[in-house]
Amino acid sequence: MTITSDFFLGARYCCILGYPVSHSRSPQIHRLFAEQFGMALRYEKIPVALGALSQAVDTLRAAGCCGINITVPLKEEAYRLAAASAPQAAAAHAANTLWWTMEGELIADNTDGTGLCRDLIENHQVDLRGRRILLLGAGGAAAGVIKPLLETAPEQLVVSNRTLNRAQALSSRFAEYGPIEWAAADARFERSFDVVVNATSSSITDELPVLDKSAIGAQTVCYDMFYASTQTPFCAWGQDVGAAHSFDGLGMLVEQAAAAFSIWHGLRPDTAQVLAAMRLG
Ligand code: ATR
Repeated sequence: MTITSDFFLGARYCCILGYPVSHSRSPQIHRLFAEQFGMALRYEKIPVALGALSQAVDTLRAAGCCGINITVPLKEEAYRLAAASAPQAAAAHAANTLWWTMEGELIADNTDGTGLCRDLIENHQVDLRGRRILLLGAGGAAAGVIKPLLETAPEQLVVSNRTLNRAQALSSRFAEYGPIEWAAADARFERSFDVVVNATSSSITDELPVLDKSAIGAQTVCYDMFYASTQTPFCAWGQDVGAAHSFDGLGMLVEQAAAAFSIWHGLRPDTAQVLAAMRLG
């Protein structure tokens, strides 16, 4: 990675690191946010392999970078690298947002869960208070959203995963934050859920996570944290088995970006405008 600090003088400089990262839509989102404030922003995608984050972060700091987004597979490494973490990153043991204090201390946050909750609550008007939520998956993506979901005061959050012991471990780890339980991937449910969130990586390979349709009722909102230009298999399945709505994760992507933008620049962008632009491609 070659960066010269002079190059970025005059514009705020941020970036997203991951591997691979070429698919990321974050540069487009952050540029649209910056335009709302007449801000000169340079936002780059930089491929960084596992184990190489520390050196990349140091180089970026020297180049005048003020904020870094982190995507797979670096979220856990980013959390470990930071000198201090905001509560959401500390609970998730993973970070998607890094920045430095005036003293040069590296701080980590995780805005994924905030992004998910804002998209559900604000953009889709899904009230999560007192609701029953099923979360599919027990990897880093799931861990990143559990604390914020529990903070919305649901009646119950159930974690279900193909590998059961990972769901059990995650529900034990987050028990201090609220009513969380686990279920086997093939469980049959006596009551359907109000919201079912797919946090597995199944959509990446165009697969469906195993889920009994007893989880879905006429009131159920299916939410896939993944997004694609065509409907994801999980969203299509939700529709087929009679869910009230199926939403993909594009709104979550825009909302987590807005939360990072606010942290770095102290400005809250209008996400509706940007989400509409992103839907157009
Ligand atoms: P991430 O950071 O994206 O969460 P991860 O930690 O590798 O990535 O976790 C991937 C999650 O998706 C896991 O919960 C995984 O289930 P296992 O723990 O059983 O591996 C889940 N997953 C991936 N592909 C899946 C599929 N086809 N069906 C169901 N679950 C799947």
